[in-house]
Amino acid sequence: MEAASTIWTNTNVATFSATSAEPYGAVLEGAVAVRGGRILWVGHRDAMPAGILGGQTETVDLGGRWMTPGLIDCHTHLVFAGDRADEFERRLLGESYEEIARSGGGIRSTVTATRAASFDTLLSAAERRLRALASEGVTTVEIKSGYGLELDTEMRMLQVALELERRNPIRVVGTLLGAHALPEEFEGRSAEYLEVVCEEMIPRAAEEGLAACVDAFCEEIAFTAEECGAVFDAAKAHGLPVRLHADQLSDSGGAALAAGHGALSADHLEFASEAGVRAMAAAGTVAVLLPGAFYTLRQTRPPPVDALRESGVPIALATDANPGSSPVLSPLTILQMGCTLFGLTPEEALAGMTRNGARALGLGDEIGTIEEGKAADFAVWDIDHPRELCYWLGGTPCHSVISGGEVASYD
Ligand code: NIG
Ligand code: FE
Repeated sequence: MEAASTIWTNTNVATFSATSAEPYGAVLEGAVAVRGGRILWVGHRDAMPAGILGGQTETVDLGGRWMTPGLIDCHTHLVFAGDRADEFERRLLGESYEEIARSGGGIRSTVTATRAASFDTLLSAAERRLRALASEGVTTVEIKSGYGLELDTEMRMLQVALELERRNPIRVVGTLLGAHALPEEFEGRSAEYLEVVCEEMIPRAAEEGLAACVDAFCEEIAFTAEECGAVFDAAKAHGLPVRLHADQLSDSGGAALAAGHGALSADHLEFASEAGVRAMAAAGTVAVLLPGAFYTLRQTRPPPVDALRESGVPIALATDANPGSSPVLSPLTILQMGCTLFGLTPEEALAGMTRNGARALGLGDEIGTIEEGKAADFAVWDIDHPRELCYWLGGTPCHSVISGGEVASYD
């Protein structure tokens, strides 16, 4: 075997390999060898193949710490201007999220702030948030547009997302969410607005390589299933896979719509029907659960976790970091909420931010587990067992992050 550039040794490795018989895919007293930013070998440290330790190989002793795949935050709205703490207060005084949205607040108020913000203002605000995620082990983050709702600002948001990747040791996946809300100037003319999404935004994002995916918000306060279906058709015509904000506040038939279009994921799903869950299972659509929004909006009906589990739908978890429904910049808090609020086991929650998060992004062959050939993206933790990552609230046990085979530095 060829020599590794780096071998991390004296570590317990939670590989999250789907083929492992061990909980968490654990390899105790393991070692992980890397070359060219890829995993060359992982196994028990006494079973290292001959030749892997070369003259130039650097060996790093992790002192018995645990290693997991780098965390994947597969659903965020990290690029935006302003905040909506005022709406948080209004909700606590009795108004609902939908009422605030209908009265011109909600997504539209962030749209006003984001349209007025320069590239640099958006970049520095988003970078602060990105670093908060990275400090808790995140090595891949998905970032949606959707606070521009006009061609230029939507593209600016996606360019900011790409710039974040260029400037930081983190993988960024951009998603076009032009169909997030109807902008005020198109009130009563949603068909005309969706023409802009389908005929201007999607082609431009695809041509310029600004988005890897297209998302839409299927909800009474956003777009109908039929409208979202048209957005999906346009995305597919431009070779972009699709995802959906589905059944968050009401059963809008979102889960079945997403599955019917072969979507990578359907996200939220608090009101998803049984038929919707079955359709997702048949289509291989990942369920992305977002307990930060459920918690912040003080929702009471959790997504149908038992049905998802029983029908074999892969479950992912994400922060949904956004200024309205989920001002949450802590993936570890989301792991805790996934267990406490939705009843996931710690192993399911962690698989949701590793292996299944990767699948929701269409990157299941590239990231999400510690297996030969995948990208060398890892998080190293000061813990005695991986279940602890779902247990503490506050006080990150993240020791270090390795991205593409290099220790990630955010100084
Ligand atoms: O995922 N559901 C729609 N979009 C976001 C909320 C965006 C906002 O309120 O600004 C979400 O929860
Ligand atoms: Fe969202």
